Amino acid sequence: MEFLRLRLAVLGVLAIVGSLGLRVTRASAAPKCRWVCDEGSNRDSRLTYDSKMEMNEGRQARRLGVDPYPPQPTPPTHRVAFSVARTTPIGPLPNDTILPFDFMFSNAGGAFDMETGLFTAPVSGTYFFSFRGQKRSAQYLMYLGLWKNGEEMAGVYEDNLDPQNPNPSPGNASNNLILHLFERDQVYLMISDNAIAFSTVFGKYVGFSGFLLFPDNPYA
Ligand SMILES: *[C@@H]1O[C@H](CO)[C@@H](O)[C@H](O)[C@H]1NC(C)=O
Ligand SMILES: *[C@@H]1O[C@H](CO)[C@@H](O)[C@H](O)[C@H]1NC(C)=O
Repeated sequence: MEFLRLRLAVLGVLAIVGSLGLRVTRASAAPKCRWVCDEGSNRDSRLTYDSKMEMNEGRQARRLGVDPYPPQPTPPTHRVAFSVARTTPIGPLPNDTILPFDFMFSNAGGAFDMETGLFTAPVSGTYFFSFRGQKRSAQYLMYLGLWKNGEEMAGVYEDNLDPQNPNPSPGNASNNLILHLFERDQVYLMISDNAIAFSTVFGKYVGFSGFLLFPDNPYA
């Protein structure tokens, strides 16, 4: 009788341990995200997968010696990269003016408009911009600002620090920044009133480049 009770107790403990083990196994088999492991991505059916399939794929891939999860190419709408320059000097002008460009290195995605000098974000996301300018004048300073929707974000500047001793030799300045933009936000360079920016066909010392680092929604 005592022996039977002990056996039942042992069986009970084994059953509890067994069900715990099952629970742990179930939790570890829960769907994981496949490509992008952002929070809450499990709710997106495109990011979930069957763990059994993963194991099979992984085993097969290892056997073949290939990466089981190669990076996915970015959809074409997210390829945004431009680089433009001036081939001639500009300024001084009587007022602040959106800087026009006459040379295009690249404009993937077509978001930079040579007619207006405006970059218009085709998709909400995080963008990188860089710009540069050169001063070659004893009389005028060089000042270019990077503007977003009517607000100045950053500038490049070269001036004669000693007005008694003006220096016409070249001075170069550049700046870069990472900006979050919403779709249709506009970014452009502005040359300040009474400022100059020197450039040539050979050097293209005045230039503006930008590209999309990553869109807010990778499936937009
Ligand atoms: C800028 O200067 C030009 C030339 O003097 C003038 O015609 C134009 O009205 C000015 N623009 C602004 C916004 O002040
Ligand atoms: C600016 O760039 C020009 C052309 O590349 C160069 O000749 C000049 O020395 C540079 N100026 C300075 C101050 O580095």
